[in-house]
Amino acid sequence: MAEKLWQGRFDQPTNKLVEDYTASIHFDSRLYRYDIEGSIAHCRMLAQCEIISHDDASKIVEALGEILRDIERGKVLLDASQEDIHMAIEKELIARIGETGGKLHTARSRNDQIALDMRLYMRDVLAMCGTRLRELRRALIEMAEKNIDLIMPGFTHLQHAQPVLLAHHLMAYHEMFSRDSERFGEILRRANVMPLGSAALAGTTFPIDMEWTARYLKFPRVTANSMDAVSDRDYLIEFCSASAIMMMHVSRMAEELIIWSTPEFRFIEISDSFCTGSSIMPQKKNPDVPELMRGKTGRVYGNLTSLLTLTKGLPLAYNRDLQEDKEPVFDTADTVLMTLRLLSKLLPEIRVNRERMLQMAGRGFTLATDVADYLVRKGVPFRKAHHVVGQVVQFCIRDQRELSDLTLDELKAFHKAFDSDVFPFLEISSVVDRRTSIGGTATSRVEESILSARGRLDAEEK
Ligand code: ARG
Repeated sequence: MAEKLWQGRFDQPTNKLVEDYTASIHFDSRLYRYDIEGSIAHCRMLAQCEIISHDDASKIVEALGEILRDIERGKVLLDASQEDIHMAIEKELIARIGETGGKLHTARSRNDQIALDMRLYMRDVLAMCGTRLRELRRALIEMAEKNIDLIMPGFTHLQHAQPVLLAHHLMAYHEMFSRDSERFGEILRRANVMPLGSAALAGTTFPIDMEWTARYLKFPRVTANSMDAVSDRDYLIEFCSASAIMMMHVSRMAEELIIWSTPEFRFIEISDSFCTGSSIMPQKKNPDVPELMRGKTGRVYGNLTSLLTLTKGLPLAYNRDLQEDKEPVFDTADTVLMTLRLLSKLLPEIRVNRERMLQMAGRGFTLATDVADYLVRKGVPFRKAHHVVGQVVQFCIRDQRELSDLTLDELKAFHKAFDSDVFPFLEISSVVDRRTSIGGTATSRVEESILSARGRLDAEEK
């Protein structure tokens, strides 16, 4: 059994079961880079403030740099019998440079150390989420541009409602993902705060310079209250919450990709390279990727619930419960990043069945609202017009006809205001292009939204 760095006040060795139960090294070892980066900053600050000598600091910093390189080259296996990544690295440091290594932990606790590590980690994750979301938004914009002229049925209640451009439908998702980008950006503002120096909970008696450490690690701010600093997990909860919302958007889109691939819809076909087969049914080609996107949304929701439940009863300040924040956060980050990456690669792999979409766009009396609007323009009150067209639709259903099959005389029988200028209102493309209200589906509006989306994206990428 390895000697613990905190062994001093203990007579008996730790029970093996306790060691296993309390260890986090098997999941927090992924933080090694941030832990070492934070330790180097801390050590330089200690020397800067003359709390340790510059000689000692150089030795420590150099050894930490070597440990980092060795871990990266796979040369050092972190001691799994150490509780966590902090202990494992400190132990390795002391093994390499002896007692001097023991000076690193001056004016610091693992409580503020893990708080710093997670903030450093979260900064990277948020930046990666931003990049991946921009890739996805670009893929959506490109797909919208490619299909700018394609009309499909728009749905409410999953029933045919009014014709819309496929590009409009796609740009709706672009809006959702651009709000998600904003959300991740806003979380960064609150995550990007430097807690090291808060020590165990109360701050430290050493004359440290937290602002120096913050500048060194490129944090714009230092935490304001040491007790809050070691127990705050808000920014992780916010990350899981923004991720849950983002995955909800992904899942809605995934659901559509799944139903659009069915023989009943036949709107799209996802390329073979993004589908899987069945072990028993030879004919099958399944949309497993969007299904798993929908499924993984559930685990991201679960992670958010875990964190909220984990923290709700904790007295100030640090409690070991907080160690349990890592797996839900890591799992969320891994899931979100993988999903976003795959979704932007999947979109260009979709073949759109243009004929089928257009054909279905006119089915199910999707032009009924436009016919009612026509009567309104002729001076008929909307409620009356709605009722009249309802009767026309009922007639068509009984007669198994479409609105566009009706003659002017037949229409006139329902209301005298019908005239020969009604026919453009029964033409799908003119109906779409007349919806010119802000955010409407008219080609001109959708082109405008694509242009503005591109502009925003370019600006964000600068
Ligand atoms: N592994 C711990 C965590 O993740 C680090 C802090 C431990 N602090 C302590 N006093 N036991 O929260």
